[in-house]
Amino acid sequence: MPREVIELLAPAPGQTMLDATAGGGGHTRLLAERVGGTGRVLAVDRDPSAIERMREAADRPNVVPICASYDELDELAVIPPEGLDGVLLDLGLSTDQLRDDARGFSYQSHGRLDMRFDPTRGRPAWQLLAELSQEELANLIYAYGEERLSRRIARRIVEVRRRTPLRTADQLAEVVRSCVPRSRGHRIDPATRTFQALRIAVNQELDRLERLLRRLPQWLKPGGRVVVIAFHSLEDRLVKRAFTDRDVWERITKKPLRPSREEVAGNPKSRSARLRAAIRRPVAQQAG
Ligand SMILES: C[S@@+](CC[C@H](N)C(=O)[O-])C[C@H]1O[C@@H](n2cnc3c(N)ncnc32)[C@H](O)[C@@H]1O
Repeated sequence: MPREVIELLAPAPGQTMLDATAGGGGHTRLLAERVGGTGRVLAVDRDPSAIERMREAADRPNVVPICASYDELDELAVIPPEGLDGVLLDLGLSTDQLRDDARGFSYQSHGRLDMRFDPTRGRPAWQLLAELSQEELANLIYAYGEERLSRRIARRIVEVRRRTPLRTADQLAEVVRSCVPRSRGHRIDPATRTFQALRIAVNQELDRLERLLRRLPQWLKPGGRVVVIAFHSLEDRLVKRAFTDRDVWERITKKPLRPSREEVAGNPKSRSARLRAAIRRPVAQQAG
């Protein structure tokens, strides 16, 4: 939703913007064009290969690539003391990650079921599948996948892993499909919710998002803007809740914006996107 992002963030020459999920750099480039030579875009991603590609491209001197998780930026002291003019969060995973067979994000991939945005930290998904108890797996799939059949799936995973270690994405997808019926008239693969749950758990996505949402009011200048694009209801709920604090935020999208039919036709992955935006209220208007 690049047009909506630019309209709502309204980047202007000389401003400092944070693209907290820079990925393939599409939004970063749009922001960099608008802030110009006197402005800056801090382009953050947890994925070292995304940042590496951005460094290699080095096509914009006003882009500062930073490899970090967006909730850990205080530790790196990269937020300027005068504050940011705008922050963009385009959550979820990038097309590069989805297409990379070796990372196991797609249920069609034959590669290792890794699913870490940052492959140098934390436990990969195959390890969670091997180590968690049946009950832990069921709770995880229910909480992060909103999957009604979580207990059945967890039972099947434990049955299968006794015989064969579950290591690849297509193996897991087969296990889920073997016990979850494909809903009639639905094109969504039955494994989708289980994959989402594992990815969220592996990357601690909801905890990190909550932490970032708590930090944003301190990072933004009064009048600074934030745009968040969420891809499932768990993320979107956290964003919606954060923006209800009227002492801090003026919401500029009353309802979340959805991508147009044309955008979904060109990029089916965007179909579940929900965009919310808010402005940091000036301090004088707060409390009262
Ligand atoms: C949907 S993609 C962003 C695409 C990007 N806006 C573009 O125009 O190409 C989401 C990106 O967020 C990154 N990401 C996910 N969680 C993150 C976190 N906690 N901190 C920083 N980046 C994160 C992923 O590695 C992925 O590259």
